[in-house]
Amino acid sequence: MATIGKDLDQACVLLQAGEVVGIPTETVYGLAGDAMRGAAIEKIYAVKNRPATNPLIVHVAGPDRLKGLVESIPEMALRLMDRFWPGPLTLLLPKGPAVIEQVTAGQPRVAVRMPAHPLTLELLRMLPFALAAPSANPYGYISPTTAEHVEAQLGRRIQYILDGGACDKGIESTIVGFEQGMPVIYRKGIITDQDIKAVTGRVRFYETQNAGAGNQVDKINKVQQARPLPANTVNSGQHQVTEVAALNPHITSGMSLSHYAPKTPVFLLPDFSEPAMEARVADAVSAGDLHALLKGLQMMERLERHLAPDVLDRIRQQDTTIRMGVLSFQRPYFPENSLNGLALRQILLSPDGNLDEAAARLYEALHALDQLGLDFMLIETVPDTGIGQAINDRLGRAAVQ
Ligand code: TXA
Ligand code: MG
Repeated sequence: MATIGKDLDQACVLLQAGEVVGIPTETVYGLAGDAMRGAAIEKIYAVKNRPATNPLIVHVAGPDRLKGLVESIPEMALRLMDRFWPGPLTLLLPKGPAVIEQVTAGQPRVAVRMPAHPLTLELLRMLPFALAAPSANPYGYISPTTAEHVEAQLGRRIQYILDGGACDKGIESTIVGFEQGMPVIYRKGIITDQDIKAVTGRVRFYETQNAGAGNQVDKINKVQQARPLPANTVNSGQHQVTEVAALNPHITSGMSLSHYAPKTPVFLLPDFSEPAMEARVADAVSAGDLHALLKGLQMMERLERHLAPDVLDRIRQQDTTIRMGVLSFQRPYFPENSLNGLALRQILLSPDGNLDEAAARLYEALHALDQLGLDFMLIETVPDTGIGQAINDRLGRAAVQ
């Protein structure tokens, strides 16, 4: 059990002794250690069970603390810092001489960010060093947005979690680097491409052959059909993990196809753009027929590939012991009390249709559904505008393909 508290002095003492501490940020909770000390960084990797090839973001108290950490700062980066720091923007900059190898995992750039949480900013000001901090979740699992999430996931491996309440933004920072003077978004986040463009005049998304952030969103807005695994995909338990990092040395792990994933198998629901589908679904709902419903949604092939045979049998037999979770955006995707008394756990992300609220509640909702021991969960994507793009990006990665 870790202690959860607001004691900055205790956090400082532990960090100065080379220990790791859970810290709040406005995006998600981080697992922090002294960025200058190899042993602390190794502890972070070990506690998270994270591959050592996956670099960490260095958190600083302000742009004036970047000396030694970065070699140079492009003028566009200065403008972005000026506009968005403190805040959910991580910049990839050429690394300076003070950066130790373990933090960047051999990458030529270092990721830096000034978080906007008052408690963590205070902590960063008290310490003589910057804090390396990945999200405080076991590798590949849902990021934590409360101190209790951190305790539940890593509590046995760390001593202290600084409690800053629930994170107000709720999804990770936007990661931006520069290629030939062009700002490039490597991970979508709270700060959107339009926000960046308003400062820099131009921006593009990083794309890979098979896992570009943009492709992912295009893909999840269509009804997903069965498709073969890409050649470089390995199957790890129920989740497919695509080793995109091997394709390009700059790529960030948040871009691997499977990430941010609950233990319960997650399937994305199609949107109702097709009238024929809407009619089939309405018929199945009024007949209370789950199997017909899932067929009508063209989801059975995917379910057949990922669910255990006994779960599939129970779906086909309309067995009311099926435990299905549903995460919807604004309105219930399925009418309440439909489907013949089937235990349906449905969470609405934002009844007002507010994307900021949906982002803030997303991981909390996934954690909550994942605690229920469901057979599977169905998730609706959100409108793909503004921060909805980052939400859909995370949903796409939480889902099985
Ligand atoms: O909002 C956030 O960014 C949170 C809070 C705690 O600050 N942190 C976070 O860290 O999401 P993490 O480690 O879960 O994700 C950081 C991403 C990873 O995908 C990593 O590969 C990438 O940033 N990254 C870090 N340093 C990098 C570098 N030097 N070059 C390329 N990618 C890097
Ligand atoms: Mg993470």
